[in-house]
Amino acid sequence: MHREVDLRSDTVTQPTPAMRDAMAAATVGDVGYDEDPTVNELESRFAAMVGKEKAVFVPSGVMANQIAVRVLTKPGDLILAGRRQHVVSFEMGASARNSSVQFLTLDDTHGVLELRDVLDSIDAELDHQPHVALVAIENTHMPSGGTPWELDDVRALKDALGEVPLYMDGARLFNAVVATGTSALEYAESADVLMACLSKGLCAPVGSLLAGSRRAMTAATVERKRLGGTMRQAGFLAAAGLVALDTMIDRLAEDHERARTLAHVFADAFPESNYDPLTCRTNIVTFDHPEARKLVAHLEELGVRGGTVAPRRVRFVTHSGVNDDDVDYVTDVVGNLDFSFSHA
Ligand SMILES: Cc1ncc(COP(=O)(O)O)c(C=O)c1O
Repeated sequence: MHREVDLRSDTVTQPTPAMRDAMAAATVGDVGYDEDPTVNELESRFAAMVGKEKAVFVPSGVMANQIAVRVLTKPGDLILAGRRQHVVSFEMGASARNSSVQFLTLDDTHGVLELRDVLDSIDAELDHQPHVALVAIENTHMPSGGTPWELDDVRALKDALGEVPLYMDGARLFNAVVATGTSALEYAESADVLMACLSKGLCAPVGSLLAGSRRAMTAATVERKRLGGTMRQAGFLAAAGLVALDTMIDRLAEDHERARTLAHVFADAFPESNYDPLTCRTNIVTFDHPEARKLVAHLEELGVRGGTVAPRRVRFVTHSGVNDDDVDYVTDVVGNLDFSFSHA
């Protein structure tokens, strides 16, 4: 029997029956007038979870990042970020287009930014180099394998930054929470502004939340409008978001467990990749392979759907639509791949 296991991304998740019920029953109003009670409840709930004065509901993670950049920088500013972070490499140059900023990119091979790299870049202002207006980190860091930041490292970074604000792209913040046992509140303490996506592992159909000081979020509401992100009766979406925050966080541990199993399966199947399965701590298996695109295409024919995130880098992501039988199937397919192919 042909099976299909979709490991392309955790964005392919479907809303749960509880979300669909909540959406159908949601009380809604016009967000532009601040009159949607369900959106307001979702924003308050998230703000409380992360200990910020206010949160703003936006249509997507990219928009959350773009609003943050607009709020925290001015044209010509420099943002320090990891070379492969989403805001740098996966948003079609949106920060340059929307905010006229430039990035100074740092090595993020292992998911975190080295404190020394950050401090040297800031210090370079004394050598006629641009002022660093913002440091952006990604937690979990997708391209390194969904790597969660350790709380001590985030704190050390924040302490070292002084007046320079810290932004946390927490598209998968709750994966980091579940993997490390650090609360969202603890992580958020060190970030001036942060965001989390509801539409990835948490299974809501649409939406991300940006949070920070009242002042920053007042500015964010203006930028949301400018970018066309002020939805109207968005309470239908927020209702699913509330179910996501209430019921879908703890189950991420299952995704992590399945990803760890798959990490070992892939590491064993492709020794040439030198992939260390122990680097898989959340829901993302990603490693370099010389024939990454061919490998993905071949696996797809066998019913295992993955993707590439760079020319020679494959990625497989677990989520609520992947169960233990699926993991067994992938184990079987990958374990029995044609040997010569695996050395293509
Ligand atoms: C780390 C990170 N940030 C931001 C985003 C953007 O989220 P969205 O697809 O909702 O725009 C993604 C999407 O995968 C992501 O992985």
